[in-house]
Order: sequence, then C-alpha cells, then structure tokens
Amino acid sequence: MLTTYAHVNLASLVHNLSQVKRCLSGSCEILAIVKANAYGHGAAETAQALVRHDVTRLAVVSVKEGLALREAGITAEILVLGTVFDEQIPDALTHRLTPVISDRQRLPALARAATARNTSLPVHLKLDTGMGRLGLSAEEIPSIIESLRSWKSLAVEGMMTHLADADGKTSDHTDEQLARFHETITLLQRGGLHIPLIHAANSAAIIRFPQAHFSLVRPGIMLYGYHTLPASVPAPNLQPVLTLQTTIAQLRTVEPGSAISYNRTFVATRKTRIAVLPIGYADGYSRRLSNRGAVLIRGRRAPIVGLVCMDMTMVDVTDISAAQAGDEVILIGRQGNEAIWADEVAEWTGTIPYEVLCGIGPRVPRIYSSCSS
Ligand SMILES: Cc1ncc(COP(=O)(O)O)c(C=O)c1O
Repeated sequence: MLTTYAHVNLASLVHNLSQVKRCLSGSCEILAIVKANAYGHGAAETAQALVRHDVTRLAVVSVKEGLALREAGITAEILVLGTVFDEQIPDALTHRLTPVISDRQRLPALARAATARNTSLPVHLKLDTGMGRLGLSAEEIPSIIESLRSWKSLAVEGMMTHLADADGKTSDHTDEQLARFHETITLLQRGGLHIPLIHAANSAAIIRFPQAHFSLVRPGIMLYGYHTLPASVPAPNLQPVLTLQTTIAQLRTVEPGSAISYNRTFVATRKTRIAVLPIGYADGYSRRLSNRGAVLIRGRRAPIVGLVCMDMTMVDVTDISAAQAGDEVILIGRQGNEAIWADEVAEWTGTIPYEVLCGIGPRVPRIYSSCSS
C-alpha cells in the first residue's frame, strides 16, 4: 500500500497540450519542456505521453537529463537548453542530443568532435535579448555564423531567445526583447542564412504574445496545468496534472497548553485532535508551510500546526470529527468540493507553482493514470 504519493493524471496533460495547440496557428511546432523531471511529474512518463500525442521535440536542461530520456526509449528530438560541457560532447553526439550554443567558447570542441565522427551536428543558437542569463550577444552573431560556415560539421537548426517578463504586469520588456530578436533574425536572413526553427515563447508568451510564436514554441508550466499570468490576462483553460496525497498515520488528542512539534511553535488553546501525516520537507513539503498551510481531509481544510518536520507534518482535525487514521489526505489537489492547488501552496510559501512542483522529492512515488489512445 502506498501512503504518500503523487498521482499524475496524463489525461490532464493531454488536455493542456490541446490548449497549447489552440493558441498556435499555421505550422508552428511544439518543443515541450520536460526538464527538472518534467517539473516534478516524471520526465520519462511525461515525455512518453507527449510523444504519443504527436509531440516530436522535447527540451531538457542537461546532457544527463537527455540521456535519461534516451534510456527510457524516447527517440524524439531532444534539445539541451543548458551548457554541454566538453566532456559531455561524446554522449551528446552518440545519443543525438542537440546543443544550444549560448557561449562561443563551446563551439570549437563541438565542431571538432562532430568532424571526427564525420557527422553534421544540428545546433541552436541562443541570443540574450534581455534575460541576462545564458545567450550570445547580437554583436557576436555574425562572426559566429562565419565560423559555422567554415566548420561544416555544425548546422544551425535553430535560433532562440528566452523572455524574462512574459508574465509581467506590462508588455514593455517583452516588446523590447522581441524587437532585438527580430533585428538579429532579419540580419541573418538578409545574409542569406536559412534557420529552420526560430523560437522564443514560454507558456506565458504562448498565451499572451502570438507575435512571439515564430516557428516553434516552448511550453513548460502550461503543460502541467498552471500559469503565472497577471489577473488582467484572461485565464487559460488548464487542468493541474499532479495531485500530492498522503494518509493519516496516527490521531491523538492533546490538552490545552500542549505544544506540537519542534520548538513548540504551536500551543493548543483548546482540546485539540491532531493528525500525524507521513510527509515532510524531505519529500519536498516545505517547512515554510509550518503554521501556515492546510491540507484536505474528508473534503475539508485542516490547518498545519507546528513546524513541518523532515518526514512528518501535523494538522488540526478537531473540527473534522469523522477523521480517522488511514484517511486520504490531499496536500495538492481536489477532494470533494475543496481544492488546494500548487499555486495556493506557493502563495503560502512565498514562491511560484514551478518550485512547489519541482520540489516534490524522489522519495515520493509517482503513479500515472493513463490517457486514452
Ligand atoms: C529556455 C526555456 N524555455 C522555456 C521554458 C518554459 O517556461 P514555462 O514553464 O514558463 O513555460 C523554460 C523554463 O524555465 C526555459 O528555461
């Protein structure tokens, strides 16, 4: 019997994929972001479900993540968004992982390795238009293209940028980034370079900035059922994919004045029924939820009391008189008419739903409900 687990509803993933497709026009393709264990949902199973629904391109952040997908039998195109270090090049080549070039220092080693194997390695160039993280400057691009022309072993398959504020209050920074991106693309096209794949849009930009779609979009959080758009943007029709649940391990009744958990941060002011839950911060259930968050038991909210421990969390079920040991407890998800989703947990912990989902640890088994077809 599983007591604590994450249930991943692949039918909801497929629903969200259909919502991405609804935003797109013409021949715009999808590059699904499955990095960070598919935002905590399980990279292999998520990727397999997406591929079954005609997604042909996936993105991860590292060669290690790419290799894990290949080991799981994924044959789709895989783009590596982060740095491909020199010692990882043989694996990237052997397993058809496509590097993103964000730093020209990486080019010679890649070119030499591809030449040695007598192969043409597709690469995507990344332009930093205002994210301030990875990416080449616009000034570097022409000389890089010149170098690539001489190294026949590397083929520019894609040109990308990443938007820093597509979910921001205004579109100003996104407009500026897109203008810079356009300028560079136009320059390259005038120079006679044909780049098959041009991409910039994350989830927020897919929903909000059709002018950022180009030939390929890169949805992440939207596939998993969340967005961080401002309230002024009509909310997309998404379904959260992951439910996090556990089981009441033990119930106890404590007298007024009794303290719960480390450092006595909660002291009962009434006769209080406490449920002990076998989940804690080692599972990714944040300690910042201490005395703040709530869970669902028998369709009602039970507040977290005391500090969340490494492996256990205590909740107050005094007002849920029917609660029993063995009851299902929903930490993220729906139970009856009540729901607590990752964005509410994120509000309690001062973060974003991305971090709540990615943070669910490896100790928590993922159970999949299959999608039809
Ligand atoms: C380069 C890149 N593209 C796309 C995404 C997907 O972003 P989102 O999850 O907001 O759709 C990410 C995620 O961080 C990213 O790093």
